[in-house]
Amino acid sequence: MEKNRDKKKPFGINTLLTHCGNDPRDYHGFVNPPVVHASTVLFPDAQTMATRNQKYTYGTRGTPTSDALAQAIDALEGSAGTVLVPSGLTAVTVPLLTFLSAGDHVLFVDSIYNPTRHFADTMLTRLGITVEYYDPGIGAGIAELIRPNTKVVFTESPGSNTFEMQDIPAIVEKAHEADAIVMMDNTWATPLYFRPLDHGVDISIHAATKYPSGHSDVLLGTVSANERCWPRLLEGHGTLGMCAAPDDVYQILRGLRTMGIRLEAHQKSALEIARWLETQAGVASVLHPALESHPDHAIWKRDFTGASGIFSIVLDGGAKKKAHAFLDALEIFGLGYSWGGFESLAVHVSLADRTVSRADYGGPVIRLQIGLEDTGDLIADLQKGLAAAATAE
Ligand SMILES: Cc1ncc(COP(=O)(O)O)c(C=O)c1O
Repeated sequence: MEKNRDKKKPFGINTLLTHCGNDPRDYHGFVNPPVVHASTVLFPDAQTMATRNQKYTYGTRGTPTSDALAQAIDALEGSAGTVLVPSGLTAVTVPLLTFLSAGDHVLFVDSIYNPTRHFADTMLTRLGITVEYYDPGIGAGIAELIRPNTKVVFTESPGSNTFEMQDIPAIVEKAHEADAIVMMDNTWATPLYFRPLDHGVDISIHAATKYPSGHSDVLLGTVSANERCWPRLLEGHGTLGMCAAPDDVYQILRGLRTMGIRLEAHQKSALEIARWLETQAGVASVLHPALESHPDHAIWKRDFTGASGIFSIVLDGGAKKKAHAFLDALEIFGLGYSWGGFESLAVHVSLADRTVSRADYGGPVIRLQIGLEDTGDLIADLQKGLAAAATAE
């Protein structure tokens, strides 16, 4: 990609995904980078060792393999630097531990991924940090919650399980006026459909476990920062020693090459199925921000360039028994956590953790990850689920 850097026309996203990261000419022309397994790196002499004056110094501080993926993510995110961590959850915890200190106040969106909330309510609180939640629809109203000691505003858009969209530019403006930094868990959109840093966010977080992996077999997280936050993020990452394993890093880089076309397929199938579900008896509503019926559709349309393959439906009344009847009747959809892989998944989600945005959805909320199967087969499977749900209560 180096040789085309000065050309005016930017590359299309699939061209970028195909070539970002490593330069094959660095490794004798091999298309893929080597998987460097390393703790020790040798120095040529004592002086170089004493000054650490060479590109690689120790396995935790980066290898050609981790550099290849970090550079690829930087190209996609438009970031000054990216660190790699062993899971999506550590991609959340590492920047929070890096940028917060005892006595600080942090704001989290109420529709946050539940393990992020658990980390905040337990470890951050124990470390003397005040944790507060805000309504996903707050927008510029965040200004009223910001205190003199607010250091971080944490966003996730759309929100986990219920898919509320946040007005990220409005939140960024108010947070920056108060000198707080904004972090965003951008896993749902991937940098293909939303680039947080272009909208003023300081730190963009991804569970690369999802779409970048694409095959439900790797755990990895990425944290990307703008110029202002990069030196501190890099320092915090090194201090915590939270590096990712080389084989996993390699698999994520491999996954990126096909992520564009996979996401197009997830997007198309998910929208087709979401629209079909909207017409079905037994479905009270479909929570998918790319649907015109979604209350925050205008924000999605304004800021995002696409939608991935996960959304929720609300069954028409009933409770756990009905949700379980629906799930147990499914044959293609697997019952399992996570998403972003090639296969379809379903889960009955709990919203019991919400504190400020408690809504009565009127029935069980089922999250659907739409995989790469044929949509006709998936629709037939969902028909079985709906038929079972209809007779459950
Ligand atoms: C929005 C979001 N962020 C982060 C994570 C954590 O990723 P991981 O499973 O790799 O820890 C998940 C996992 O489901 C998620 O849905």
